[in-house]
Amino acid sequence: MNFDSNIFLHHIAQTSPFPYSISIERAEGIYLYSPEGKRYTDLISGIGVSNIGHRHPAVVEAIKEQVDRHLHVMVYGEFIQSTPNQLAKQLADVLPPTLRCTYFVNSGTEANEGALKLAKRYTGRTEIISFRKSYHGSTHGSLSVSGNEVKKSAFRPLLPDVRFINFNDPADLEHISTNTACVIMETVQGDAGVRIPTKKYMQLLRDRCSETGTLLILDEIQCGMGRTGSLFAFEQFGIVPDILTIGKAFGGGLPLGAFISSEKIMKCLTHDPVLGHITTFGGNPVCCASALATLRVLLTNEILEQVEAKGRLFESLLIHPTIKEIRRIGLMFAIDFDSDERVNKIVSQAKEEGIICYWFLSHPYSFRIAPPLTITEEQIRESCAVILKVLDKSST
Ligand SMILES: Cc1ncc(COP(=O)(O)O)c(C=O)c1O
Repeated sequence: MNFDSNIFLHHIAQTSPFPYSISIERAEGIYLYSPEGKRYTDLISGIGVSNIGHRHPAVVEAIKEQVDRHLHVMVYGEFIQSTPNQLAKQLADVLPPTLRCTYFVNSGTEANEGALKLAKRYTGRTEIISFRKSYHGSTHGSLSVSGNEVKKSAFRPLLPDVRFINFNDPADLEHISTNTACVIMETVQGDAGVRIPTKKYMQLLRDRCSETGTLLILDEIQCGMGRTGSLFAFEQFGIVPDILTIGKAFGGGLPLGAFISSEKIMKCLTHDPVLGHITTFGGNPVCCASALATLRVLLTNEILEQVEAKGRLFESLLIHPTIKEIRRIGLMFAIDFDSDERVNKIVSQAKEEGIICYWFLSHPYSFRIAPPLTITEEQIRESCAVILKVLDKSST
């Protein structure tokens, strides 16, 4: 084993001057363990990934079984492989009839790249509408449709013909027109600090897209896979997107993403030009085995049914004078404070106390809690007791 921080800091490319920098040797359920045996409670699920906890036995077993049969055998879309087939069928069974054709990719941002290309190709239009403060990924296309100007400006020029409107503002829907290829939206904005639209707004958005022949892309990379209490967040708003993008928790701890639409829409990537979107590793069989086992666990263990009660329990326990506001849907929380300094203090103090909570990309006054959905009532009570202790310290 090698946990040398010099190697980490100098031979692994860094993403910021202040990495979280804890060493992790193993993980199980909601806990991560350092080489010295310190236990951390993962209250962020590795940022939206470990929705059924780390190393769920069913997932580990499915991965091992697949590894014993075959790993990568061919680029995406050419050979018939059992595991991706089963996963696509399982998704088709749980999604509405217009979302039954899945294109597997390797990550969230790639799912959005594919979705944007698909919408342009299907509609023959170029304009894309997105939302202020949104986050859709870090590659050029996804960055172009993300709303955080600070993260974008150094990388211009980006995609042309992208317009931004205000989230959850019905007046802005008039900007969607017959020139618009697609609207891309996080059903619940994650990195803006958990922003939840109204049902009424989502229905108006759906209607406006349908009226103008604009495809509605819902990005559920962070809010999907049970996080909000339903398998997909859009189910709670009474609408269905034309294209759904998923990633993160979808792969059950291995890298996998997907964009999903009707077969009619998806077919246009097969001609003019042929191979309109291609990937070597998309739908990797080992990742699909992990995803399939994860989906089965989510669907058969009453995990989804318990999300709301667990969310409420957290909310009822997290009462403290320093907390300004809590925004929550299911087990997805933003907890607001009066300053980013206080948030920094809390996140680093919580780390000392063995609790992992974390910042948001576009909302510095808040920290996130999004634990594995499998967290127990007792674990919630224990975690909240530590958080309250940390909040006390932050106010001295
Ligand atoms: C809503 C949303 N979309 C897309 C992405 C990008 O996913 P990935 O990091 O797998 O490329 C993220 C990642 O945080 C996200 O939260």
